[in-house]
Amino acid sequence: MLPLVGILGAMIAFTVFIGVLAAAIGGFAGKGRPLDDRELATLKERIAPIGQVRTSDQPPMETASASGAASAQTPAAPRSGSEVVQQVCSACHGAGVLGAPKIGTKGDWQPRLAQGFDTLTQHAITGIRAMPPKGGNPGVSEDEIKAAVTEMLKQSSLTP
Ligand code: HEC
Repeated sequence: MLPLVGILGAMIAFTVFIGVLAAAIGGFAGKGRPLDDRELATLKERIAPIGQVRTSDQPPMETASASGAASAQTPAAPRSGSEVVQQVCSACHGAGVLGAPKIGTKGDWQPRLAQGFDTLTQHAITGIRAMPPKGGNPGVSEDEIKAAVTEMLKQSSLTP
């Protein structure tokens, strides 16, 4: 009889102990002091979304006035052949990097032009061997590529 009472007593004591412990831990965790303004600001900054969805066509006021809405929205005017050559193609075609036909060297371009101007332009658009598509610049339009090929041929004393 007695051992059973002892065991029961121990179990009850243990349960009470666990209850007190849980209350102590819970009370401890919940008793945080309120954040001051600076901490609150930091917290808000940390949990702020990285972007916001804009549902209107209108640019936000600050960008509209800062950079000029018109220039941000109108697509860039097509560049001339010589501009594209200077900005993109001459990086390789100026010095003949990777075996690129050199601007100004007729002998480099003549056998290539023999394929036909359209084929040549097509290769410049899609890329061929070490020549990357559009010279590695997807922002260049097909018309600009055409103008650039024409320009490089011209500078190499060839007519497309
Ligand atoms: C990263 C270097 C690089 C840039 C930039 C580059 N090219 Fe080339 N291009 C090459 C190389 C290399 C070849 C020779 C490929 C071959 O025939 O093996 C080549 C070949 C060509 C050819 C001849 C294709 C043929 O059929 O023989 C044309 C045309 C051409 N490039 C146009 C352009 C134009 C236009 C631009 C600028 C928009 C440009 N390239 C920019 C490297 C470049």
